[in-house]
Amino acid sequence: MNRWMLCLLLSLGWCVVAQAAGDAAAGQTKVAVCGACHGPDGNSLVPIFPKLAGQGERYLLKELLDIQAGHRAVPEMAGQLTDLAPQDLADIAAFYAGKTANVGVTDPTLAAQGAALYHGGRLEAGLPACSACHGPDGAGLAAAGFPQLSGQQAAYTLKQLTNFRSGARANDGDTAPMRTVAGKLTDSDIAALAAYIQSLR
Ligand code: HEC
Ligand code: HEC
Repeated sequence: MNRWMLCLLLSLGWCVVAQAAGDAAAGQTKVAVCGACHGPDGNSLVPIFPKLAGQGERYLLKELLDIQAGHRAVPEMAGQLTDLAPQDLADIAAFYAGKTANVGVTDPTLAAQGAALYHGGRLEAGLPACSACHGPDGAGLAAAGFPQLSGQQAAYTLKQLTNFRSGARANDGDTAPMRTVAGKLTDSDIAALAAYIQSLR
């Protein structure tokens, strides 16, 4: 049975994933320029540059396509993805997905406040627990495209939650889970969550 017939028999979702399968070894040859900001193995050392190591492949590919198409504004990456084909982006996603994220240290008082919100949400305000989608340990759900959060740079997380809240980042799909969630967070909630997430493992 050829691949297209197989695709007819399986879900469309599977076909999309199958077509975009990345090659991590090929990806390694395409990330030299990225390492300056994201770290050679995807563990960035600069707080506002996100760690990519160990991030889910599906999520990485989606973000790369969104950034390339301008659906997510990343001025720092202007021109970086212009000449890359979809297969290049898939290879890069596979490369970073195969790396291991290191863990950060963080302010313990702020983190304790963030932990309660992360695992419990705030029911009276209709705020779900972050762990429901991102997992109790922040590993995310790679197959669903729910990103890994554990160990992420606090300054980066703080900026993303603020951007989802204001709508400056709006690439979370038609159901807008993150814009909805972030809309219920105060500045101090965001600071506490960002600190906790950096220490998650
Ligand atoms: C000059 C620094 C710089 C360079 C070079 C750079 N990036 Fe980025 N990248 C950033 C910044 C800053 C962000 C986050 C922007 C924001 O706050 O939303 C980002 C975001 C990302 C994200 C989204 C991460 C997430 O968790 O959602 C991916 C994926 C990514 N970059 C991949 C790459 C790849 C692949 C390359 C090389 C082809 C690259 N970047 C080159 C600075 C850089
Ligand atoms: C209903 C599921 C759901 C819930 C609940 C949820 N998230 Fe998310 N989150 C997502 C999805 C899906 C994305 C990816 C959006 C995209 O495609 O760019 C995401 C993205 C993020 C990002 C951006 C990651 C990156 O690397 O840029 C952060 C940070 C984040 N979520 C934090 C949180 C926090 C903190 C909470 C709890 C207050 C939370 N999320 C609750 C589904 C959820």
